[in-house]
Amino acid sequence: MDENTIICRCSDVTLKQIRELIAEGYVTYDEIKRITRSGMGPCQGKTCGQMIMREIAVATGQNLKDIKFQTTRPPVVGVKLGLIAEEGRKHEE
Ligand code: FES
Repeated sequence: MDENTIICRCSDVTLKQIRELIAEGYVTYDEIKRITRSGMGPCQGKTCGQMIMREIAVATGQNLKDIKFQTTRPPVVGVKLGLIAEEGRKHEE
């Protein structure tokens, strides 16, 4: 695969960047995520996560299933004040 291939489309991270970070000693998904923001885009790593984990596995000689994926957190969703007030009224009754 060409090293200029974009691995993380959401954050515009190339294979070359991932490989350089691994060579510098960043060998966990979370470390690479924090530096490049890969996995933090709209797809939350669904597109790039497996490819980054595979690169880590290949470079470090680990089994892919032993590479820990990021902790996925759901996006924050706003709550309408009316719903909160309604719940409050239920507790007053
Ligand atoms: S492609 Fe990497 S976060 Fe979406």
